[in-house]
Amino acid sequence: MSNSGSRASLANDFERFKRELPRDFPSHVRDTYRIDLSARYLGERLPHPIGKGSGQLSLNGGQLETDAEAGLAFAVLKTVIAQDAAGDQSMAAWAIHETKMKVERRGAGWTVTWKGRGWDRSFEDYLSLVRAGRDLTRAGQLLTVPSVKYHLPRLDEPFRDAEYTYTTRALATAWGESPLPLEKDFSPTLAGDRLADERQQILRWLREVPQHIRAHADVRLSMKLMNARFDDDFQREMMEAAGEADALVVFNRLFDAEQGLAYGGPELSERNLRVLDRASDRPTVRPSLSGTGNIHSGRMIVEYALRGCSSVQLHTFFQLPLEEYPASDGSRTQRALHALIFDPRDGLIAVMLEREGSGSLERHGGELLFLDLVPGAKR
Ligand SMILES: Cc1cc2nc3c(=O)[nH]c(=O)nc-3n(C[C@H](O)[C@H](O)[C@H](O)COP(=O)(O)O)c2cc1C
Repeated sequence: MSNSGSRASLANDFERFKRELPRDFPSHVRDTYRIDLSARYLGERLPHPIGKGSGQLSLNGGQLETDAEAGLAFAVLKTVIAQDAAGDQSMAAWAIHETKMKVERRGAGWTVTWKGRGWDRSFEDYLSLVRAGRDLTRAGQLLTVPSVKYHLPRLDEPFRDAEYTYTTRALATAWGESPLPLEKDFSPTLAGDRLADERQQILRWLREVPQHIRAHADVRLSMKLMNARFDDDFQREMMEAAGEADALVVFNRLFDAEQGLAYGGPELSERNLRVLDRASDRPTVRPSLSGTGNIHSGRMIVEYALRGCSSVQLHTFFQLPLEEYPASDGSRTQRALHALIFDPRDGLIAVMLEREGSGSLERHGGELLFLDLVPGAKR
């Protein structure tokens, strides 16, 4: 089909999928547009790049099932606070109940209030959620990834390995298969904590955490980096220090010290993209990158992809008031995917066709490939 023929199909698909998005939309996109949306996260092939970031939208099996039915590519489970065999948690301050979330406009975008807390139920309950996620992963329906916040020491202190041992082994047992995919969360409120006052302290965590986790299980490790309260150069230094991870999630929310909360919106994506711009001289593909922060359109997915992200993790866009989505039916996940993929102006298909038209994206074997947008990505 010609580029203009594809655009006509797109307008048509956008309209008819408002009522129902087919679960296997990636195959439809491949057949109709000859666009291959395949993406990657933590070494796994994904049908498309869009996943859900850790948080309040992945707290129970019902949410995961809805996401699997909608055809989401992956979901990161809510962050659990690590504990030792006796149940002690050095990061217990983060294991308290989240106050009610409020979705608000921020600049030209949206943000959701979040005090940056983790899982507040028992560790046993979390392991049940991990098993539910494992079942969906094994059935090929939805890749799920547990997320943990482990002890982080001051410079003159050792790591509390008892937490790393107990938590990692329990998760690996619940997962059952090797390797265990895992995200290590360095959350935005950590950036606001006195623990993160010192650069050397943060860099040590990023260098040493992978070995403390991997000592206890075969883990494929992603580290979700915070936006520290330092400049862009330091943000790059953090990425380099975290070079032992298999993947990096770049970068979690900004921290508002006055209000004591983490926020997103346009300031977040501006900062993240600006820092990633400096990464163009990255010598290797390891660790691979997964983008997060103010992603609300296919156009924004492409901005992250061009800066090295072979998948993306959204939270806020899955939480908007229903009237903000163009679709009229379906779960929020379906409505969000519909807009991200099929919007005729700013959806992922439209932007890839636009790049083909301008000569910045070429067909291979007749197909446009999402991963061709990503410098250094393995197809
Ligand atoms: C209410 C809420 C809870 C969140 N909880 C977590 C969490 O437990 N662990 C984590 O790593 N990130 C957490 N996040 C961060 C999101 O996963 C995401 O990376 C971040 O909000 C940026 O993406 P967005 O602009 O699409 O929201 C949370 C975000 C929100 C809004």
